[in-house]
Amino acid sequence: MTRVLVINGSPSKREQSYSGAVTDLFLDKYHQLHPHDEIINLDLNDLPLAHQTLDRHNSSSYWKEVLPLIEQLKKVEKVVCVSPMNNFNVSGLMKNYLDHVLLADQTFSYKYSKKGEAIGLLKNLVVQIITTQGAPLGWYPFGNHTAFLEGTWAFMGAKINHPSLLLAGTKVAPLKEQTPEVAAQTLLPEIDKALKTF
Ligand SMILES: Cc1cc2nc3c(=O)[nH]c(=O)nc-3n(C[C@H](O)[C@H](O)[C@H](O)COP(=O)(O)O)c2cc1C
Repeated sequence: MTRVLVINGSPSKREQSYSGAVTDLFLDKYHQLHPHDEIINLDLNDLPLAHQTLDRHNSSSYWKEVLPLIEQLKKVEKVVCVSPMNNFNVSGLMKNYLDHVLLADQTFSYKYSKKGEAIGLLKNLVVQIITTQGAPLGWYPFGNHTAFLEGTWAFMGAKINHPSLLLAGTKVAPLKEQTPEVAAQTLLPEIDKALKTF
């Protein structure tokens, strides 16, 4: 049985969340194809470590409690990583989560690699990225949280499933007039494409 860890980094109220609606649609269709797979939900809103920002006061103890989270990543075959754009990057919850699990010799290693390169240690993981942003694509080219997530998981050795699912323009017409459930439907062709390889 395949285990799928769904990491939700959206601070939006669940029923108003566009990224949540895309995730629900993706998982509904996934379940139809793989009814026996186990879905494990990790809501970063409820994870104390995802509320901790690295600073000079906690830098010696920051990673003390992280091993169970890394073990969780090593015990699953698939991850669905969900984050809206907040101020041109992933949410603070997602950044704090990644700041914890990006731990040398646990999820990546510099050993045996060429100068400047690292070796990802999460080789068995396939990651599907689901992102949203209020602005349509291209309004703020300096902010690309989807590429950030793709690069970060690939750095840890994971295979990125394509296409990543980005719902852009949730704060402008026509999507802002639609419920999250209706807006999510616009991604159906990409969801179907992504499910072929996930
Ligand atoms: C604090 C905050 C910062 C945001 N920053 C951006 C941003 O930099 N660029 C953007 O396009 N949208 C931004 N948005 C809009 C969200 O990305 C968008 O509304 C998203 O759909 C909300 O998350 P959800 O999809 O889970 O509902 C921001 C929203 C909030 C609450």
